[in-house]
Amino acid sequence: MCGIVGYVGPRPALEVVVDGLRRLEYRGYDSAGVAVIDPVGGLRTAKKAGRIENLDKELAHQTITGTTGMGHTRWATHGAPTDRNAHPHVSGDGRVAVVHNGIIENFRELRRELEAQGTEFRSETDSEAVAHLVAAQLRGGAASLADAVRAVCRRLAGSFTLVVLDRDDPDVVVAARRNSPLVLGVGDGEMFLGSDVAAFIEFTREAVELGQDQVVELRRGGYTVTDFDGAPAHGRAYHVGWDLSAAEKGGYDYFMLKEIDEQPGAVADTLRGHLVDGHIVLDEQRVDVQELREIDKVFVVACGSSFHAGLIGKQAIEHWTRVPVEVELASEFRYRDPVLDRQTLVVAISQSGETADTLEALRYARDQRARVLAICNTNGAQIPRESDAVLYTHAGPEIGVASTKAFLAQVAAVELVGLAIAQARGTKYGDEIGREFDALAAVPDKIAEVLADLDPVRAVAREIAASKAVLFLGRHVGYPVALEGALKLKELAYMHAEGFPAGELKHGPIALIEDGLPVVVIMPSPTARSVLHQKVGSNIAEIKARGARTIVVAEAGDVAAREHADHLIEVPATPTLASPLVATVPLQVLAAEIAQARGYDIDKPRNLAKSVTVE
Ligand code: G6P
Repeated sequence: MCGIVGYVGPRPALEVVVDGLRRLEYRGYDSAGVAVIDPVGGLRTAKKAGRIENLDKELAHQTITGTTGMGHTRWATHGAPTDRNAHPHVSGDGRVAVVHNGIIENFRELRRELEAQGTEFRSETDSEAVAHLVAAQLRGGAASLADAVRAVCRRLAGSFTLVVLDRDDPDVVVAARRNSPLVLGVGDGEMFLGSDVAAFIEFTREAVELGQDQVVELRRGGYTVTDFDGAPAHGRAYHVGWDLSAAEKGGYDYFMLKEIDEQPGAVADTLRGHLVDGHIVLDEQRVDVQELREIDKVFVVACGSSFHAGLIGKQAIEHWTRVPVEVELASEFRYRDPVLDRQTLVVAISQSGETADTLEALRYARDQRARVLAICNTNGAQIPRESDAVLYTHAGPEIGVASTKAFLAQVAAVELVGLAIAQARGTKYGDEIGREFDALAAVPDKIAEVLADLDPVRAVAREIAASKAVLFLGRHVGYPVALEGALKLKELAYMHAEGFPAGELKHGPIALIEDGLPVVVIMPSPTARSVLHQKVGSNIAEIKARGARTIVVAEAGDVAAREHADHLIEVPATPTLASPLVATVPLQVLAAEIAQARGYDIDKPRNLAKSVTVE
């Protein structure tokens, strides 16, 4: 949540910073602002509520020069999304500017203390206190801006990425990190900062992930990292494996549409290299085979779409390994008293690797001595850093706020984990594991088939775009698919949408059915689980008899589905445990089409942010 950009070098800082903010807007779009140290005008700031276009209009009336700057795009926590609460925040003496991502939990007491000393606050944010505190440190004789920031960080509780400028030291940018992400970009005679590498990928692919509780001082020629006490420290340097084109729309109207089309590659790349000579091989940082043999329980913890990937994973892991799996929303898991010990494997699924609840859940699990394996799409993010093992999904950068390609990649990854456990425990023979892997490996072509024939989906979308509500029904792996379809529609089209297990229909949800209500049904394969196929067939007949408009996602050639469907969306036949990877795709497209028909921005749905770094 919130995107941060920083720059020091020879270029005009304003352009670099505003371009960086545009690439980070997915992290929050309640307001945007910049600060630049202008050789003529001193510390110059501009900030505006709403999207970056509003800031652009504001900047059109101003001339700001200078080669040291920073910017912020906000997802509001403390204080409404107004101009006044937009970042940067400046100290009362006009010397220090601060942008902040996270929540400073002790800000009330800091604010009281500052107000008692006569400081006037101009915003309702927690962040403003930091600007005043840093300025006070400098006035009190701190040896450098970095020293002042370190002293302030030692007093802050909560999560924060901070970037700080000092008008009187124009060639330096100082940043600090606790929990919220921060990456440096190392250029030739210039240095960049971003909440993620997309902010500066246009200029450099050499990145340094700043560690927990570290402060960095950037100058044109290089950078110095310390801990909060000033002791020398190191970030983790790496080369970014993708380039600018991956972070751009490439001719699409929206990132989400590009990302939907990239799904065959995302699944194929996530599976690639994980079956070697008939053996499942996980990433280098992995749980020991002996430990996998000894686990007696798996917990999957995640939020949002990642949670739905976990629900699909449960079906696969239990089926292949006979180890019981619980799937839990990270925000629930960490605040109860779950039963786990050193024989528990906790699988933390997170696209961003920075979701606050998932991070805290895994910290809790490690405290209980459970082994933690992260499934993550972001190299070096906090969640994989704090886990015992990691399996990276290779979906590439996902910028649309609603997850699509990352979700499919997570499903493939969690199933790989299931196969690895089955292999370690010997609950499946090698050839069976090979067959299951092959079923997953065949999926990218099937997704491509779905993507090649979306007209029926678009036609339904147009017809139901004005509906007030849509229900989604599924059973077994079709149930999480229904949940994901409903979530996409809520997020993007702001429609009331609910996913239900089809078998639960008669225990309540059927009361919602009224004439013309669209109900999307995920039909199980007629071959693999014919009992379920028949049962869902009866469920469709029941709702149709009560006036529902049925939209059925079914395997091509499913005669019974055709009989019950007002609208039929056919997908290629796929073995049950791999089928969510195919059946989810038309539901993503359905939601995107309906949202566009209703005139909404599908990359930036209202009130949402892609990475939820606060609880
Ligand atoms: C937000 C995003 C969702 C995502 C969820 C979990 O709500 O909008 O698309 O599924 O966070 O994020 P994570 O990065 O942990 O997978």
